[in-house]
Amino acid sequence: MRKYSIYAILCPIFMILEVLGDICIPYLMSRIVDIGIVNRDINYIVEVGLIMVGAALLAMLFGIVSAHFGARAGFGFAAEIRQQTFKKVQDFSFANLDHFTVSSLITRLTNDCNTIGQVTMMSLRMAVRAPFLMLFALIMAFNINASLARVFMVAVPLTAAIIGMILPKARPLFQKLQTRVDRVNAIIQENLTGIRVVKSFNRQKHEEKRFKERNDDLKNTALYAISLVITIMPMLNLIIYSTIIAVLWFGGKQISAGTMGEGELISFITYITQVLISLMMISFFFMQFLRGSASVSRILEILSTTSEIKESERPIKRLKDGSVSFNHVSFCYPGSQETTLKDISFNIKSGETVGIIGSTGSSKTTLVQLIPRLYDVTEGQVKVGGLDVREYDIKTLRDKVAFVLQKNTLFSGTIRENMLWGNENATDEQIIKALKQAQAWEFVSKYEDGLDHRVEQGGDNFSGGQKQRLTIARALLKSPKIIILDDSTSAVDMATDAKIQQVFKTELKDLTTIIIAQRISSIQYADKILVMHQGKIESMGDHDTLITTSPIYREIYESQRKGVAM
Ligand SMILES: Nc1ncnc2c1ncn2[C@@H]1O[C@H](COP(=O)(O)OP(=O)(O)OP(=O)(O)O)[C@@H](O)[C@H]1O
Ligand SMILES: [Mg+2]
Repeated sequence: MRKYSIYAILCPIFMILEVLGDICIPYLMSRIVDIGIVNRDINYIVEVGLIMVGAALLAMLFGIVSAHFGARAGFGFAAEIRQQTFKKVQDFSFANLDHFTVSSLITRLTNDCNTIGQVTMMSLRMAVRAPFLMLFALIMAFNINASLARVFMVAVPLTAAIIGMILPKARPLFQKLQTRVDRVNAIIQENLTGIRVVKSFNRQKHEEKRFKERNDDLKNTALYAISLVITIMPMLNLIIYSTIIAVLWFGGKQISAGTMGEGELISFITYITQVLISLMMISFFFMQFLRGSASVSRILEILSTTSEIKESERPIKRLKDGSVSFNHVSFCYPGSQETTLKDISFNIKSGETVGIIGSTGSSKTTLVQLIPRLYDVTEGQVKVGGLDVREYDIKTLRDKVAFVLQKNTLFSGTIRENMLWGNENATDEQIIKALKQAQAWEFVSKYEDGLDHRVEQGGDNFSGGQKQRLTIARALLKSPKIIILDDSTSAVDMATDAKIQQVFKTELKDLTTIIIAQRISSIQYADKILVMHQGKIESMGDHDTLITTSPIYREIYESQRKGVAM
């Protein structure tokens, strides 16, 4: 059993002890008034007074201990949920990430987990304290004066009615509140990741306006939600004070008639206040509970999501070779109506170099994402090493198919740490070899601290071309059988690009290489070039063939030649 579960049990136990203390005190007080003061018995007053102080101290102590355990249970529980949710997100497929969006995942992992922790902490205390305090106080009040205790018959149902009226409205509001927090976080995240673009386009004012709209929307929703909570309080206060007045009125009469002691009346009032405050606490608890349950359902949505990329029942852990074949493959992004890839078929032999070219949005990235199973095909079959990709152990497949993403990133740490992502056991020699192959060593070797050179978050302290070369090196360290470079040399100068191609042709000639590029020069010497157009293969062949057979290829070629000639 986890540690916080023990705290979750201890917290209410100590809370009950605190309640017992709270219940004793008014009773002892009534004894002091009705026996000690009436009989002018100083010894009795001191004796019972001391017991009262003792009870108060003990109640305080138990209260502190209970609060302490409650906090440990709440924070412990929140940490555990956060960890599990984080773990689950790591297993998400690309489609799952598209569905949730990154900003909503951030809100859920931070804000929602915190809410669950706080609500757990409060519920552990209030959900126990309120009913027990109410029960004991009711018993005591009836004990003291059953006829006077009949005021409860009016006060309690009235309070319950008010709470019952307001609570059902609260849940949808709290859910709405969380989605508003999501929306604000989404804009913060988008703005901060693109802050440099925002500045260079002078879009600050526009962004502020966009932010203000959502921020105001959040504020208004929060205000509306809280106004419900706020109105409950004065209404309940009104009931408490009216009840006290009624008790004073009827109790006063009973004192005049000699059927009730003054002390009894004082303690009676304390007990009814305790009962009504407990009711208030219960309503507050429900409110918190609803707020928590909105967060819980948002977390459960993550935890219950299963990646549609399923591991095969008998996963194959070895890739025979680096051949790739597409057999009448069609693909549609989950949730999208359009077919992004239409009836794609081609074969790549192990060790071949294949270029893919086509206008932006022609589905080049979509096509190669199917090879390491970042998405699964909608129709048809993708084979690697002669077997359907769905038959492989996913880890093995992704280790052997290195994919340098178009939107690639480095992580904060050192260059060495980033390279170890490719292979955590790589030696410095291996890292340097990969850096040399990717033409990155020429600039890394110039740093005084070499491989220990710092990488800032996202790799922002490197130029676009440097970053691309580092990500190629990182992929090479996996010693894959297939490497996919998605526009990975777009920011690299042509001479360096040519050197990288030369390495793939000589040193790495056994590696199946798939290069997506915008520049003909990056793929000109490939064994085979696929020309993509609107989700289909327009034509396929080597450079010389395509120049004559593919109008699209010729057009790209002509436009780039003119560009060079100009
Ligand atoms: N995650 C996604 N969810 C839904 N649709 C997507 C997603 N990613 C891409 N698309 C759509 O699929 C189509 C093909 O996109 P893709 O990224 O494959 O093009 P591309 O050829 O790689 O373009 P570029 O040269 O600009 O990188 C586009 O119309 C795009 O809107
Ligand atoms: Mg792309």
